[in-house]
Amino acid sequence: MDSLLIKGGVPLNGDVTISGAKNSVLPIMAATLLTSEACVIRRVPDLSDVKFMGQILLSLGASVQFEGDTVKIQAAKIKPFGDYDLIRKMRGSVCIMGPLLGRLKKATVSLPGGCVIGARPIDLHLKGFEALGAKIKIEKGYVHVRAGKLLGADLFLGGRSGPTVLGTANVMMAAVLAEGVTIIESAACEPEITDLANFLVAMGAKINGAGSPTITITGVRELHGAEHEVIPDRIEAATFAIAAAVTGGEILIHGARQEHMHAVLDKLREAGVKIERQGPSLKVKRGSRLRPVDITTLPYSGFPTDAQAQMMVLMALTPGISIICERIFESRFMHVSELTRLGADISIEGPSAIVKGGKPLSGAQIMASDLRASAALVLAGLAAKGTTEVNRIYHLDRGYEKIDMKLKSLGARIERVAES
Ligand code: EPU
Repeated sequence: MDSLLIKGGVPLNGDVTISGAKNSVLPIMAATLLTSEACVIRRVPDLSDVKFMGQILLSLGASVQFEGDTVKIQAAKIKPFGDYDLIRKMRGSVCIMGPLLGRLKKATVSLPGGCVIGARPIDLHLKGFEALGAKIKIEKGYVHVRAGKLLGADLFLGGRSGPTVLGTANVMMAAVLAEGVTIIESAACEPEITDLANFLVAMGAKINGAGSPTITITGVRELHGAEHEVIPDRIEAATFAIAAAVTGGEILIHGARQEHMHAVLDKLREAGVKIERQGPSLKVKRGSRLRPVDITTLPYSGFPTDAQAQMMVLMALTPGISIICERIFESRFMHVSELTRLGADISIEGPSAIVKGGKPLSGAQIMASDLRASAALVLAGLAAKGTTEVNRIYHLDRGYEKIDMKLKSLGARIERVAES
């Protein structure tokens, strides 16, 4: 497995362009299963999760052609069951269920397992399918979903931690081909849901209210091919903004949609980071004095759980005490023990991390555990004195396009070391 060697302490300066959003492109690729016609998706990031989704669609019978940052997918004839092992490996693949159910009225997929950030159940997805008239059977690690016909319904998708992003995507994709009107209450409001809805509408779906907690879908008989450009990745943009702050540099971030980043930008400003809009780009630089801030992760438009680990690095470098409360996933603090290895003073109390910031970080060998934890470790390595070796970085390649190259172009001393 590849590692990253980082010689820290260099302020990052220059321009970076944000790639397409991983969490948009995965459900959008799955949505192409809803039509037999060809679809073209642009601003597709070069990520291992995206390639993986391509393989899953291939295994279902679709043709998938990548060319640069475009993918053309045609699901002319597909089968309702995917390869057990392929699907099990990537949590995001759960979003093929909705389109398979919508188009074929049945789907069989392996149950996605838990992962290091928590249990990751799919009960809300299944509740939504059942409300549309599907019968669910779980057997030998597979979930079978089947409906004679799908009928629009009023349904509530709120769970213990609020709405579900992929659950909303899944139910929306099944409902576009259901008979009648479906109203999803407590729908996820993430920009990735709006992006998916925009693609479905381009395919001929009738959807109102995406981006709000109530989504109304009027079923249509069939969908057609469409073209779509994926939104820029707000979490990648947040990660580069934090990179500017933790290294004391100045980065001009191109392509970031400020309107998708209010909670992160607000907290960065509160922490003393200078953020300026320059046309469609954002200029981010550390101010003269950093201040500790308390953060609670929440569903959109609250502070995103996917930027929690990165923000913790900034707080570890900021003199004073910050409390970071994780409200979306129950064990998303895997980065804490590794940050401690670098010299950070962080303790965990239930769902909160107490960060006693301002201690100097110094390089060490550390291990990446999940995607966003990996990004946080890279940020910490960039800020630490000496050399940091981040092992198991395949997680990073799942969700950050060419992150080492992008950081290098900003002046980072970072090398990818291939497994010998
Ligand atoms: N939940 C349930 N039941 C369900 C579904 C979810 O209880 O049926 C709970 C979860 O356990 C969690 C909460 O609801 O406590 C929110 O989970 P959600 O379903 O919204 O997460 P997801 O849709 O599986 C997506 C992103 C994650 C991101 C979360 C939250 C993709 C492919 N994944 O996951 O992204 O953290 O929304 O914003 O879109 C990442 O990119 O690193 C990542 C993990």
